[in-house]
Amino acid sequence: MILSHGPGLLHRIYSRVYLNMPPKLELIAAACENMGIGANGNLPWRLKTEMAFFTRMTTDTKDRNKRNVVLMGRRTWECIPGKYRPLKNRINMVLTSQLLNCGDEAIVCKSIPHALDVISEMQNQVERIWVIGGSSVYKSAMESPHFGRLYLTRIKKKFECDTFFPLIPNDFVSIEDPAVPQGTQEENGIEFVYEVYERR
Ligand SMILES: NC(=O)c1ccc[n+]([C@@H]2O[C@H](COP(=O)([O-])OP(=O)(O)OC[C@H]3O[C@@H](n4cnc5c(N)ncnc54)[C@H](OP(=O)(O)O)[C@@H]3O)[C@@H](O)[C@H]2O)c1
Repeated sequence: MILSHGPGLLHRIYSRVYLNMPPKLELIAAACENMGIGANGNLPWRLKTEMAFFTRMTTDTKDRNKRNVVLMGRRTWECIPGKYRPLKNRINMVLTSQLLNCGDEAIVCKSIPHALDVISEMQNQVERIWVIGGSSVYKSAMESPHFGRLYLTRIKKKFECDTFFPLIPNDFVSIEDPAVPQGTQEENGIEFVYEVYERR
């Protein structure tokens, strides 16, 4: 039946099923000792090298013709200072249940599956999908069958926070990524370590 339509149809089906599969979700977060990630709509610390790591990881692509997606919750979007929003050289996507209009600054989606559908439609433009927070978005992404990796900066200090990183599932295992600096880092007397996790 399919063959009677010739190889063109087969190719179209193959492209739809396999080539349009979106990349896996990669989470990137920084959490302090008490697993806090935010306070009063801000980051509780100021670590320029950690921020530079976030920018490098979420921006760099192997293919110069592609860009990465940064996928975030509505509050995280609103927390980005105006002068840095949208995050440059990345496709900004915002999750919300509301009818939000971000103009041409960001693509608004109603769920992670919706975002993945939208990304599938622009497959040849997107190299990596970075989930950049906050709490409930990290949780949904870790539970998603599309979860790929968690890049977690562990800050070796306690900060007062009102937003926390969700529980890390116990089948996550620590792995090495050559793109990530090894060992203890330090800035302004604050120590931190870059960790990478995958599902076992
Ligand atoms: N340390 C870090 O790495 C890091 C990273 C990111 C953010 N932060 C901090 O975390 C705080 C903000 O995070 P947050 O957890 O409060 O908020 P958030 O996750 O950024 O935003 C929550 C909102 O996003 C929407 N949303 C979330 N999950 C959704 C889903 N699966 N489908 C559809 N919409 C969804 C909902 O918007 P509606 O209410 O509009 O429906 C929800 O109210 C700030 O303090 C920020 O600085 C820290």
